[in-house]
Amino acid sequence: RWQKSTKILHISNTGLVGKIPYWFWTTFSDATYLDISLNHLSGNLPLNLEFMSVIKLLMQSNLLTGLIPKLSRTTEILDISRNSLNGFVPNFQAPQLRAAALFSNSITGTIPKTICRMQKLRVLDLSNNLLSKELPDCGIKELKQGNPSSNNSSKVRSLRYFSLRITSFLLSNNSFSSGFPLFLRQCPRLVFLDLTQNKFTGELPGWISEAMPGLVMLRLRSNKFSGHIPVEIMGLQDVRILDLSNNNFSGAIPKCLEKLKALTHTSTSNNMSFDNPFEEGYRSSMSMSSSLSNDSFLVVIKGQLLEYRENTLYLMSIDLSCNSLIGEIPEDLTSLVGLINLNLSSNLLSGNIPYKIGNLRSLESLDLSKNKLAGEIPEGLSDLTYLSCLNLSYNNLSGRIPSGHQLDILETNDPASMYIGNPGLCGLPVSR
Ligand SMILES: *[C@@H]1O[C@H](CO)[C@@H](O)[C@H](O)[C@H]1NC(C)=O
Ligand SMILES: *[C@@H]1O[C@H](CO)[C@@H](O)[C@H](O)[C@H]1NC(C)=O
Ligand SMILES: *[C@@H]1O[C@H](CO)[C@@H](O)[C@H](O)[C@H]1NC(C)=O
Ligand SMILES: *[C@@H]1O[C@H](CO)[C@@H](O)[C@H](O)[C@H]1NC(C)=O
Ligand SMILES: *[C@@H]1O[C@H](CO)[C@@H](O)[C@H](O)[C@H]1NC(C)=O
Ligand SMILES: *[C@@H]1O[C@H](CO)[C@@H](O)[C@H](O)[C@H]1NC(C)=O
Ligand SMILES: *[C@@H]1O[C@H](CO)[C@@H](O)[C@H](O)[C@H]1NC(C)=O
Ligand SMILES: *[C@@H]1O[C@H](CO)[C@@H](O)[C@H](O)[C@H]1NC(C)=O
Ligand SMILES: *[C@@H]1O[C@H](CO)[C@@H](O)[C@H](O)[C@H]1NC(C)=O
Repeated sequence: RWQKSTKILHISNTGLVGKIPYWFWTTFSDATYLDISLNHLSGNLPLNLEFMSVIKLLMQSNLLTGLIPKLSRTTEILDISRNSLNGFVPNFQAPQLRAAALFSNSITGTIPKTICRMQKLRVLDLSNNLLSKELPDCGIKELKQGNPSSNNSSKVRSLRYFSLRITSFLLSNNSFSSGFPLFLRQCPRLVFLDLTQNKFTGELPGWISEAMPGLVMLRLRSNKFSGHIPVEIMGLQDVRILDLSNNNFSGAIPKCLEKLKALTHTSTSNNMSFDNPFEEGYRSSMSMSSSLSNDSFLVVIKGQLLEYRENTLYLMSIDLSCNSLIGEIPEDLTSLVGLINLNLSSNLLSGNIPYKIGNLRSLESLDLSKNKLAGEIPEGLSDLTYLSCLNLSYNNLSGRIPSGHQLDILETNDPASMYIGNPGLCGLPVSR
């Protein structure tokens, strides 16, 4: 209590139990680094921490409750993930914040409008909370308010001038319910976007690739998006993970898939020259705590739910499963030679399996089940030497199942179930 000149306090993982004493915050008000993470500390945080000098404030994995306080002007890094906090204070403020890990709490309400003024914010992880309704628009008015150089009547300034610097925006497993957030128009530097498992509705806007040209990961899985997949989505040159599964998209898969440039190279030959918050170098340059990257993504591949962490980016994947997509599988899909996972299962796709499917040499998992695909299975499929999971069941495929190479050695308990529901198929492993 009397160590008032402490600059650095590091008492992480020390078995501390009970409430944080009321004097803690004033005693350490001059400290720049406070790490009390991984204990059993409980109780509410003070509503206002403006008087502190802390730059890095780490409190993750405790039992803290109450509201997320108004932060000091000095705070750049905040980690209070894995606690039981339940909202933001009404006047939430954090002008210097660069990275905030707030995932796995019980935060309700919505994201405060003040986010529009956080010009330094790069990483915001709000996954696994109870947030609802819509995100703030951050229209030009909201953005201007916080920008000191914006006192200028000249109208020549473009909206982009005021844009945010967010590179990672992770909102999975909440209850957001608006249309595709307009907020994202102000995030031209976005690299990772995860809206998985919310209640977002409506169509994807055509501005998606223009507004966020550097997206590497676009995860919209398990929402209520509908309408056509806009052709503009193919303008996402850097995208490596495109997951639109479990929505209600209809219409055809847009053509010109070959414009997804990053997927036309294999993952090892790809340049990873963007900000990767899951990478060591990025963390040290941002002087972030390693726990910020302790978040992970659950990915469905090879029929299993797998947890991906640092290696997420090496998973080059397109998952459009469980929608209402019609028409043929575009032939130019076969130019995406970097693809490791392709899942088009449970749609209404018709026509043949692209003849050149054997070009997708990196494929490890291919699921085309539960569609209306017809014709023969292309011989080239057996050239996919990395393939370990294949499912072509419940289509209208016919003819002899190709044999030789990889197709004979796929490890599965029940090989016939890869082809089940295609009465016209014959040859091993089906009995006909
Ligand atoms: C979703 O978030 C809640 C907390 O709000 C958590 O209890 C639950 O485990 C999360 N679900 C998944 C699939 O991560
Ligand atoms: C904008 O600038 C003018 C003149 O420089 C000044 O009088 C006015 O108070 C400023 N407004 C704000 C909101 O700072
Ligand atoms: C206002 O904008 C004009 C044109 O962009 C610029 O020349 C001028 O310096 C700006 N004034 C302020 C106070 O920022
Ligand atoms: C999916 O979209 C179609 C129109 O394309 C609509 O008729 C149907 O009701 C939607 N299904 C759900 C579950 O929203
Ligand atoms: C990687 O980046 C370098 C320089 O930035 C460039 O010359 C090279 O063509 C890139 N390689 C690929 C596969 O994009
Ligand atoms: C990282 O995550 C693992 C498993 O989810 C957890 O056991 C561990 O405590 C976390 N580490 C930190 C520093 O939060
Ligand atoms: C394809 O997606 C469906 C639905 O999302 C899932 O059930 C299935 O396991 C996936 N297939 C593979 C091979 O991962
Ligand atoms: C299945 O394909 C055959 C031709 O191979 C075609 O005659 C038949 O109409 C198709 N059945 C369905 C239900 O699409
Ligand atoms: C293929 O998908 C069908 C339908 O979802 C399922 O019954 C079957 O077990 C799957 N087979 C393999 C090998 O994954």
